[in-house]
Amino acid sequence: MKPIVHPGAWGLHVKAAGELALGNHGLTGLARRYGTPLHVINEKRLMKSAAAFREAAERSYPGPASVYYAMKCNSVPAVVDAVLRTGPGLEVMTEYELVLAIKLGCPPEKIIVNGPCKTGPFLEKCIDARVRLVIVDSISELLMLDSLSRARGCRRGVLLRVNPDFIPRGMNRGTATGSRRGCAFGLDLKAGEVGRALSLLAGLPGLNFQGFHVHIGTGIRYPGDYARALRCLEPLHQAASAHGYPVRLLDVGGGFASPMTRELGTREFLLYQAFGRLPENRAAQECGTPGAFASAVTDAVVKHFGPGELPELLFEPGRCIASAAQFLLLTVHHVKERPGVGRWLIADGGLSTVTLPTFYEHHEVLLCNDVCRPGSSRATIIGPACFAGDVIYRNKLMPEVHPGEVIAVMDSGAYFTAMESSFGFPHPAIVAVNGATCRLVRTRETFDEMVSRDVFD
Ligand SMILES: Cc1ncc(COP(=O)(O)O)c(C=O)c1O
Repeated sequence: MKPIVHPGAWGLHVKAAGELALGNHGLTGLARRYGTPLHVINEKRLMKSAAAFREAAERSYPGPASVYYAMKCNSVPAVVDAVLRTGPGLEVMTEYELVLAIKLGCPPEKIIVNGPCKTGPFLEKCIDARVRLVIVDSISELLMLDSLSRARGCRRGVLLRVNPDFIPRGMNRGTATGSRRGCAFGLDLKAGEVGRALSLLAGLPGLNFQGFHVHIGTGIRYPGDYARALRCLEPLHQAASAHGYPVRLLDVGGGFASPMTRELGTREFLLYQAFGRLPENRAAQECGTPGAFASAVTDAVVKHFGPGELPELLFEPGRCIASAAQFLLLTVHHVKERPGVGRWLIADGGLSTVTLPTFYEHHEVLLCNDVCRPGSSRATIIGPACFAGDVIYRNKLMPEVHPGEVIAVMDSGAYFTAMESSFGFPHPAIVAVNGATCRLVRTRETFDEMVSRDVFD
């Protein structure tokens, strides 16, 4: 099948016989050597994306700008380590991520903490670790953090997470994290919660207010959405000043799309889930570059928070760094054709491996040994579980595929490994390729590991 996007866009090359390769490594060879399902990290690309985002942020903004990689997107230690080598800090949302960030050598002053359900023990760990900032999601958390900080005799730097009730273009309410009806995140700007938090701060000596945080969703393709969301925060600048607080920091969250995948629109999603109508992949359509996102944010901040001293600008990108730097190899073990009905490709990884993304996003699927074989008809790609929901894609245009052939689900770097489950099968292995080098960075789960938490009497 002639891929809609050329494999070169992922840093892959096509060998003479049509086989895909990354660096010196043919993908079918990797599948044979390590078994499938297998995630392959393209380390060069990962580091290049991370560096490009940081450079774009620093170049565009006239004041100080810093980048915190969102660990939730892909917390595989080899991924986080490679990203850290390009200089950003880390945004964490759980105790696990905090411990891992520290273990990987990220200095605490380069760690910021998000999340809607920070418990007392987690907040205590954050205080004790001396992380740079806690981003407060609710009034109850504000009060809890103040009392924990005071009990430890310290003052914690905080940002207030604001829910501006803003929905980016083409996104539905449920995934727009800055929508007050769709998502519980943040302090409700329209209901006056931010003002209330600012008033409370005067009586909370354990907290040191630094500024605001906003995160409006994920997979956002249009830089203008950030500019429009930041306009909603303009009144906060004055409100903070009225309470005697300068806005020193402004965190615009993450959500910057990776150009290689595309979220289905609301109508497309409904048609796909209800009737199995998967629209054509138009992943490579219009999408902002890191430079365009950084410029749009810069212009909006200068306009709404200038002209005096500009706040430090914080970015929390996840998917635009990691998504296209990893792919998933699967072996198709069986093929079923039902005349007049359809075709099924039965692979050794399914819902538990791809998790949520293929449910609502386009990902290219390539045939590794013959990437140019023409698309013949639509096929449903399913996993190995004896369960009807174990589906990767329904009705995706695919070439003829024979049992034993290997397919690559592209862009598995964001929200695949972080959310995978085993569902009766072991978690996949992960390798990292960098030019001629290929190293195993996570072993395939063993049966003993799968039952290691169970108590056998
Ligand atoms: C607060 C916050 N920051 C950053 C991110 C990263 O988003 P993305 O991977 O879309 O860049 C998320 C994702 O959910 C988030 O909730």
